[in-house]
Amino acid sequence: MTRHLLTIGALDADLLRALIARGRHHAVGPDPDSRRLLAGHSVAQLFYEPSTRTRCSFELAARRLGADVLNLDIDTTSAVKGETVVDTARTLAAMGVKLFVIRHSDSDVIAETAAALPEGSAVLNAGAGSQQHPTQALLDMLTLDEAGFRFQQLDISIVGDIRRSRVANSAVEALSLLGAKRIRLGGPGGFLPDTLPDMVERHDSLATAIEGADVVMTLRIQRERMRNDENLDTADYHRQWGLSEDHLKEHAPKARVMHPGPMNRGVEIDSAVADGPRSLILDQVRNGVAARMAALEWLAKENKQ
Ligand code: CP
Repeated sequence: MTRHLLTIGALDADLLRALIARGRHHAVGPDPDSRRLLAGHSVAQLFYEPSTRTRCSFELAARRLGADVLNLDIDTTSAVKGETVVDTARTLAAMGVKLFVIRHSDSDVIAETAAALPEGSAVLNAGAGSQQHPTQALLDMLTLDEAGFRFQQLDISIVGDIRRSRVANSAVEALSLLGAKRIRLGGPGGFLPDTLPDMVERHDSLATAIEGADVVMTLRIQRERMRNDENLDTADYHRQWGLSEDHLKEHAPKARVMHPGPMNRGVEIDSAVADGPRSLILDQVRNGVAARMAALEWLAKENKQ
């Protein structure tokens, strides 16, 4: 049966640890042997929602493994004539593409595409609506591991627009698999989901959400997914939930800070924090290439025919 990477929760802890370890290997630097790992493979990138980090890092990852890369500009493909994602992917599979990197607003569409492809053709979910972003979680775990955190001792807080965040969903799945000591989610009432997994704490004030945390991950407000009748006073949000040096010094003085990007500076994070010594944000971006190399390599090997 073909393996895909649709959710982090579908992996087991040993496989996730192995992918992190392989990502650490790729993150160290160019390995001349890497270019042979995907030689002769074609990777297609189908992004039905915008992206900078994920799309560019998947492309660099595939090229560093020696693959050919097809970057589809969806607005100039037959999608504008009504072709479905499944038909576009099956068309490319008929040309010999074996690895599909897909971002779409609906995780069901990504899963249906995976199910419709011929045996041996794998899908990597590159971000599905508010639902899942497994390779973001992989690069986040890789970054935490590289920064020296041991998951079973890790006290981590994720704050901001949790309800609409695929990053938060996938991060919680990964942290749970790896046995994180404490996971807190914090945000204004409307930004928190109705239900949370048992081991995750809910906080509706920044102070209690981050008090004493080792790591604070803050998230962008997903305005594009807000209802028209949802109003947000960004100045008020920044006062209450924006990560500033003052807030961090008072509540989590030793915390390292993460953000999946793109950032809204002056809303969920101040520049002094984003660009300061606590920030792991550019490490996350750098590790995106290595994490995606590990994911592509794993699926190519796993589905070898
Ligand atoms: N973090 C992330 O998914 O960024 P992009 O939307 O730029 O890919």
